[in-house]
Amino acid sequence: MGFYSNVIIPFFYDSSMDSKKINEGRKSILSKISEEDILEIGFGTGINLKFYPDNVKKLIGIDSNNGMLKQAQKKINNGRFQIELIKQGGESLPFPEYSINTVVSTYTLCSIKEVTAALKEIYRVLKPGGKYYFLEHGLADNPNTQKWQHRLNPIQNIWADGCNLNRDIKSLIENSGFNIIEMKNYYMKRDPKIVGYMYEGIAIK
Ligand SMILES: C[S@@+](CC[C@H](N)C(=O)[O-])C[C@H]1O[C@@H](n2cnc3c(N)ncnc32)[C@H](O)[C@@H]1O
Repeated sequence: MGFYSNVIIPFFYDSSMDSKKINEGRKSILSKISEEDILEIGFGTGINLKFYPDNVKKLIGIDSNNGMLKQAQKKINNGRFQIELIKQGGESLPFPEYSINTVVSTYTLCSIKEVTAALKEIYRVLKPGGKYYFLEHGLADNPNTQKWQHRLNPIQNIWADGCNLNRDIKSLIENSGFNIIEMKNYYMKRDPKIVGYMYEGIAIK
């Protein structure tokens, strides 16, 4: 992992991704969590921490980028609950099957290289009936935007550190065995449509 991914992106990450507009979605999905134990995949710099509800007692945050976890570490000193950070790719989770109650990912399925493998891992480690809360951007709902998402994806991949514009998040989640029990799709206000089509919901094992 190079200097751009490990140092530059983590340093500037919060200036774009900890915004009022983006945080509305974070609050909306995370406020629905009723469980105490959370595994968050693609933990990043830990922006979600401030939006977890008070019922959360323990969180494990996993990310493949040590630079992101270093930034996250700065936020957890006076945390409201127990937090463990692990440097690990989501494609291979260090937990037995049926061991996790709840998984969260926000703005992460776009970036995981082997996204199908990661979703299968999430499914494997969740207990039956366990919930997966997601807030992700991806393939839009109209052909014209989709066309541009496909065209511009290679460029996005380079400058946004492996982020993909054109992943069909609903199909990816369902094809990994999950049953989506609630989901809403919307365009983020004032964002270009190619980056702003959101999938916010809950899937169950
Ligand atoms: C766009 S950031 C989102 C961070 C955070 N979830 C948020 O909402 O701000 C994508 C995150 O996924 C992480 N990531 C990329 N590939 C990964 C992988 N294979 N396994 C785990 N995390 C990964 C990146 O390091 C980065 O922190």
